Amino acid sequence: MKNLISIEQFSAREIFKVIVPGCIRMIPKARRAQSGKVKFPDYRERKLTIFSVEPSTRTIDSYMEASGLLGWSDHRTPPPDATSLTKNESWAETARTWAIQGAGVIAMRTKIEGVQKFLAEILERDGWNVSIQNCGDGEHEHPSQTFLDLVTIKQEKGRLNNLVIGFLGDLRFGRTVHSLVKALSLAPNISLRLVSTKEMTIPEHYLKNFKGEVKCGEEMELLSDCDVVYATRIQVERFPDEVKYAINKAKAKYRITEEMLKLFRPDAIVMHPLPHANGFSPKAILDKRVVIHKQSWYGIPTRMYLLNRGYANRFKKESLGRVAKGKMKIVHEENLKDYLRKKRSKHKRQRYFNRINNGTVIDHLPRDFGAKIRNILEKAGFLKEESVPHTIEDVPSDSMGKKDVLVLENVFLTKAMIISIASFAPGATFNIIENNCFRKLVLEKAGPIEEIGKCPNQNCITNHDPEAFPKFIPVGAGNIDCHYCGRTFKNYEIF
Ligand code: NCD
Repeated sequence: MKNLISIEQFSAREIFKVIVPGCIRMIPKARRAQSGKVKFPDYRERKLTIFSVEPSTRTIDSYMEASGLLGWSDHRTPPPDATSLTKNESWAETARTWAIQGAGVIAMRTKIEGVQKFLAEILERDGWNVSIQNCGDGEHEHPSQTFLDLVTIKQEKGRLNNLVIGFLGDLRFGRTVHSLVKALSLAPNISLRLVSTKEMTIPEHYLKNFKGEVKCGEEMELLSDCDVVYATRIQVERFPDEVKYAINKAKAKYRITEEMLKLFRPDAIVMHPLPHANGFSPKAILDKRVVIHKQSWYGIPTRMYLLNRGYANRFKKESLGRVAKGKMKIVHEENLKDYLRKKRSKHKRQRYFNRINNGTVIDHLPRDFGAKIRNILEKAGFLKEESVPHTIEDVPSDSMGKKDVLVLENVFLTKAMIISIASFAPGATFNIIENNCFRKLVLEKAGPIEEIGKCPNQNCITNHDPEAFPKFIPVGAGNIDCHYCGRTFKNYEIF
C-alpha cells in the first residue's frame, strides 16, 4: 500500500493478513506512546499534510495524534475557504503545492468524490513521492475507518470470519458502511443484516461482490442474531429537503436505547463510526456491549500503521484499481477490390449508405449511439475539413433488430479511441478502409473508456477539475463504473 484510496484496491490477503495485523501490532506502541512511557524517535522531516472540507472530530484529529506519536510533524491546512481553492485554483495545483512544501503523506476529507484517487494518480505521474490517504470522499468511501472497524471486530470478537454483521441506519450515504461492506465481501462466511428505511438502503453496487447471505428490511428484529451491530448516523446533510420528514422518523426509530439493546445477543458488540448525534440514549452508551469509544481509540494505532506504510512506500508506483488495457482483434483483412467483389455477389440487400474508399465505418452501434458518438468525435477533433461523416440511424440489423451506423469518410481514429468506443458499445464493429485494404476489427478484451462522455454524478472530481478527464470501466450488461467516484451507470447515461 502506498495510497489509501478505496477498499477496492486491496486483496483479501492484504487486508486480513497484512494491514489488520499490522494495525493490531501498533496497539501496544500507541498505548505506551500516549502514556509517555516510550518516545518515538524524532522524525520531524516526515510530514503529514491534512486537509478537510467536511467537519471531523475523530478522523482528522486521530491522524494528527497518530503522526504526533510517531514523532512526525503535521501541517493542517486552513479551512478550504482560506485556501486558493476559493480563488478557483484546481485540486491538482493545490496538491502539487502541498508536495512542493514537503508533504510525505496527504490525508484528505472532501465533499467531492474521487478527488483522492485523481490526485494520487497525477502526483505519481508527475514524479511527486507522496502517499494520499482518503479520509472520506462525499458519500463514497472511508477506507481508514474500515481498518479501525476491522481491528475493533477482531479485538472484540476474536475473528474476522463466521460472523453475522448487522448495519443499521443510513446505508445509502454512510460511506463507512460502503467501505466496510466491500472489505467484508472478501472475508469468509459473513452474513449481513441491513436495516434501514427505503430512503436509506445501500446502493446496489456496494454489494456486487458480496457472496454471503444478505437479509434486508426496516425492522430492528433482523438484528437479533447479529454478532456485530454497526449503527450509523443518518447523514441529514446529504438528503434532499423533501425527505426530511421520513428522516426524522427514521432517526427516532433507530435510536439505540436500553430497550432496544434487549433485542441484541448478550455477546453482541455494538459499534458506530461516530458522531452518533443522539443516536444512543445516555444509558445505552453504558452497556458493556457498546464498544464505540474503544473503536474510536483504535483509530490512533490504525492510522499510525497506515501513515508508516504510506510513507515507506511513497516512492513506489501503484496502479489503483482495474486499469487493464483493452484489445481489438482483426477478424477480416483483404484487398478492398476482392472484398467488394465477394460482398456484391453475396448481398443483394438494400444498402443504407454509399461505399467509401477511405475511412472508417463503425457498424452495429446501439440505437441512438450514432449521433452521440459522432458528437464526441467532433469534440475530440477527429473530424477534419476533408472528413465526410454520415450518421445512419435506426436501420434493420439481423443481430440487433435495429442499429445505428457511423460512416466516416476520410476519418481514422486512434487505437485508444477505437478501444474506448468498442468497450462502451461492445457489439460495435470497425471497418477500416485504407490504402486499398479492408480491415474489420471487433473487441477482444474491454478496457477503460476514456475521452467519452461525462460522469452523471455532479459530485465526481471529473466535473470539478480541468485535469480530471472522465474514465469509465465496463462491468458487463451495458453497465459502466466511473473510475473516480466508483458509481455504476448504464452506458447511455454518460452522454
Ligand atoms: C463518519 C464520516 O465522516 O463518514 N465519521 C467518521 O469519520 N468517524 C460518520 C458520520 O459522519 O456520520
